[in-house]
Amino acid sequence: MSNKYRVAIIGVGAIGQLHAKAIADLDNLELVGGFHTVPEAASSFAEANNCKGYTDYEQMLDEQKPDLATICTPSGAHLEPAAACIGRGIHVLCEKPLEITLERIDAMIDAAEKAKVTVGGIFPQRYNPVVNVVRQAAAAGRFGDLATVNAYVPWWRDDAYYGPGRWQGTLKLDGGGALMNQSIHSVDLVQWIAGAALGVTDENPVEEVFAYTGVRAHDTNRLEVEDTCIVAMRFRGGALGQMLATTSLFPGSLKRFMIGGRDGTAEILEDELTKFAFRDEKPEDQQAVDKFGKATAHGGGAADPMSIDYGLHTANIGDFVKALDTGEQPPISGREARKSIAIIQAVYESAKSGQPVKVR
Ligand SMILES: NC(=O)c1ccc[n+]([C@@H]2O[C@H](COP(=O)([O-])OP(=O)(O)OC[C@H]3O[C@@H](n4cnc5c(N)ncnc54)[C@H](O)[C@@H]3O)[C@@H](O)[C@H]2O)c1
Repeated sequence: MSNKYRVAIIGVGAIGQLHAKAIADLDNLELVGGFHTVPEAASSFAEANNCKGYTDYEQMLDEQKPDLATICTPSGAHLEPAAACIGRGIHVLCEKPLEITLERIDAMIDAAEKAKVTVGGIFPQRYNPVVNVVRQAAAAGRFGDLATVNAYVPWWRDDAYYGPGRWQGTLKLDGGGALMNQSIHSVDLVQWIAGAALGVTDENPVEEVFAYTGVRAHDTNRLEVEDTCIVAMRFRGGALGQMLATTSLFPGSLKRFMIGGRDGTAEILEDELTKFAFRDEKPEDQQAVDKFGKATAHGGGAADPMSIDYGLHTANIGDFVKALDTGEQPPISGREARKSIAIIQAVYESAKSGQPVKVR
């Protein structure tokens, strides 16, 4: 029997609204409050979700005394609300990216560890069943010695997406562009699945990166971050990989993930298992292809930022709450969520310096 938890959402904008739906689907959670900077948005959220709306998150935390808060503010404004929660002994489940620099992430994780508060990250793709089929194959060593892991996110965002008046595309609040904001889900899958294949789970399986970034489809005088990014990676043990991250390819195509080695290859196109072939064939391989080998009906986030199935968020939030019940670290702990930013920060340093950069 699970405990019952009072939850507040800090930032009830686009994704915060989906958090409210996910929370409503979980029996052991009670939504007690939502914060938004705009008073009308805070009150209409409160009315729609039968909770209290706030324009001051500290006041919300003090009045509602939630057990946990989910953080859905702009990416470079995750640390401050997280710190406000941690200082009050409130557990924190934070949207991707955990924060936009390792320094700010480490400040969050250190404060939480000192206060014995749990911090977790949100990476809904880890709850995607087709992704899990491939990860299980990786963990079982079915690809043999890993040769390569690749992720392609050939997406499109129009000029209006980047403002004016939007936090997206700003260095201060987005911290980066196509890689930091859109492709971070794939960056996380690359490290999570490669880590399983290599048996590297504590350290970052990506050892070194070399990258180029550019602005190719937006106003270079206005956009502060990259809309086009190419990365070469070397994993621990020598496997090689590459990533393509864009918001510059009109009209946007489905994202692709590929992993393989001398004993097998797997490829996912959006949610479709387009390749799952091993030297050592098993009957369940065909079952996986039958189940997941159908063309993806939707365009994913290729051109629509809010093309999101919140069911994966429900699973992510549910898993975090299970960890609160047992007192263990959640599967996507703060340290686990840090790994994608360690890679992304190394990518940006490499693009700037023109040199390969080790992942910290
Ligand atoms: N997991 C996913 O699939 C997914 C999808 C979209 C967004 N996100 C992440 O969720 C976060 C929020 O994105 P969004 O699209 O919902 O943004 P949004 O702009 O729609 O909402 C932001 C919320 O934060 C508040 N806010 C704005 N500026 C603030 C500031 N400086 N300090 C504190 N609060 C502030 C706003 O009032 C609003 O409630 C981002 O970190 C983003 O990367 C994740």
